[in-house]
Amino acid sequence: MKSVGIVVSNPEDWTARAISRGLAELGVSAVMMEISELAVEIGADLSFRRGEADLLDLDTLIIRDMGRGAPQDVAFRFETLRSLADLGVTVINPPEAIVRAANKFATSMALRRAGVPTPRTVVTSSYDEALRTVESMGRAVCKPLFGYKGRDIELLCPEDADLLKDLLIRRGAIYLQEFVDTPEKRDIRAFVVGDVVAGAIYRVAPPGEWISNLARGGRAERCEITSEIKRIAVDANRAVGTVYSGVDILESEEGMMVIEVNGTPSGKGIYSALGVDVGRMIAELAIRASMR
Ligand SMILES: Nc1ncnc2c1ncn2[C@@H]1O[C@H](COP(=O)(O)OP(=O)(O)OP(=O)(O)O)[C@@H](O)[C@H]1O
Ligand SMILES: [Mg+2]
Repeated sequence: MKSVGIVVSNPEDWTARAISRGLAELGVSAVMMEISELAVEIGADLSFRRGEADLLDLDTLIIRDMGRGAPQDVAFRFETLRSLADLGVTVINPPEAIVRAANKFATSMALRRAGVPTPRTVVTSSYDEALRTVESMGRAVCKPLFGYKGRDIELLCPEDADLLKDLLIRRGAIYLQEFVDTPEKRDIRAFVVGDVVAGAIYRVAPPGEWISNLARGGRAERCEITSEIKRIAVDANRAVGTVYSGVDILESEEGMMVIEVNGTPSGKGIYSALGVDVGRMIAELAIRASMR
């Protein structure tokens, strides 16, 4: 392999460094590329600059994260990475898959179409539809379409009509999902690399809470990788089109259900809880992909 770049918003990020270490162990040196420093020139020449380097000279770009920014940033970054992929650079995860994973509606659709179990979900900007949905679900989890880290998630019941109206005004289209009443208030985060589940942890919600994200005070515990977890997590990763991802799973009474696929997952939680280093696995996967 000639050269690999790792796209980051923060070069000190734990996962980015783990990937870089993994590549170094395999004899490949990688350059960290801050996404906010990219410049694309469209003229007689076409260049994708970051300092002196042109990203078109890379074999492979591993995207650790796309950063957060205004809609202009997101559109620019996505189009840049998509163009590089079109022009022959191996981009991991594929930009289309990262965008699909970031959008909870698109993710639910992809899961459903691939036959991966996922809770019943309605997306609408109509107040009447939204209210009917909450009435029929009894309890509905309302999530931002582009949410993360368990932020801005509300549990609605039919009495919350005013809150529902307010959410519609503030957010536009809203995503309503059947509340899965798991016996224990926890979810499973399975870290998938290719066809392998590198590790899985339970994230247990704090007492009295039902949102279990580590960023919301959840606690990580080791989770045995059963054949059901392996199958559902690998299928979800494939359905969304990511090659590595963090798949969030709820244990419902009817079996496991996938609620989310994270296309730019952190490997730190799995490392802290299990000592599993996904960096090396992602590095191996990237090298295999670039040889195709
Ligand atoms: N349908 C549901 N039923 C019960 N609990 C849910 C449901 N959806 C989400 N939760 C709880 O809320 C948490 C956050 O939900 P979700 O993973 O969908 O969004 P997010 O965590 O904000 O996004 P990201 O994982 O990208 O940061 C889950 O980990 C789970 O604990
Ligand atoms: Mg989640």
